[in-house]
Amino acid sequence: MIKIRTPRTELVLLNPEDAELLLEYRLTNRDHLTPWEPERNENFYTLKQCEHQLTAQRKSFDEGTGFQLTALTSDKNEIIGLCNFNNIVHGVFQACHLGYSISKKHEGQGLMLEIVSAGIDYVFQEAKLHRIMANYIPDNHRSAALLKKLGFEEEGRARSYLKIAGKWQDHILTSRINPAHSEDSQN
Ligand SMILES: CC(C)(COP(=O)(O)OP(=O)(O)OC[C@H]1O[C@@H](n2cnc3c(N)ncnc32)[C@H](O)[C@@H]1OP(=O)(O)O)[C@@H](O)C(=O)NCCC(=O)NCCS
Repeated sequence: MIKIRTPRTELVLLNPEDAELLLEYRLTNRDHLTPWEPERNENFYTLKQCEHQLTAQRKSFDEGTGFQLTALTSDKNEIIGLCNFNNIVHGVFQACHLGYSISKKHEGQGLMLEIVSAGIDYVFQEAKLHRIMANYIPDNHRSAALLKKLGFEEEGRARSYLKIAGKWQDHILTSRINPAHSEDSQN
């Protein structure tokens, strides 16, 4: 179980029984998120698909392949934002990909920064991963600003990297390395 308190939110792993919260988040933020996410069919906006997604998330946590953290309001009745650490690879890589979104009504208040910072602390200090990778579409200025504030370093531009909103789109690649491992580094 994960429960991380931040000044304004609590980050948890949702259970399949919480599917209604996730559905509400998807429906309320449909227009807000559509330009930055894979194309969704109508099934994505159903309770059944949300239950399925939360079951899969629980499995990935149990198997050590992902942490999908959800930030809730203090009354726990609403999702503020999502912060996912996916594609965890162990062995010599010890790395994962970061993805995030915040509900439109909570955007522009520094909440995503607060949520993702807490998630990163967990990944570096508790899970002890070495590298977190995060990639954004060049036009996604809010995402670029967030990653800069979080200390992610730009590593290049990948052409035609992900199919977002129905189009293969270039992405700026960035990453952050666990500061606790810096003394092991040879350069
Ligand atoms: C990208 C995204 C997560 C950024 O969210 P955000 O709310 O702008 O991020 P932050 O938490 O860093 O908030 C920054 C804003 O809060 C303001 N702010 C207010 N109080 C603050 C505080 N205490 N600390 C920091 N910033 C604060 C900042 O001035 C800034 O405002 P501005 O945008 O008007 O300049 C959001 O736009 C989003 O969900 N987009 C759609 C999905 C998406 O693009 N996902 C990423 C794909 S790569």
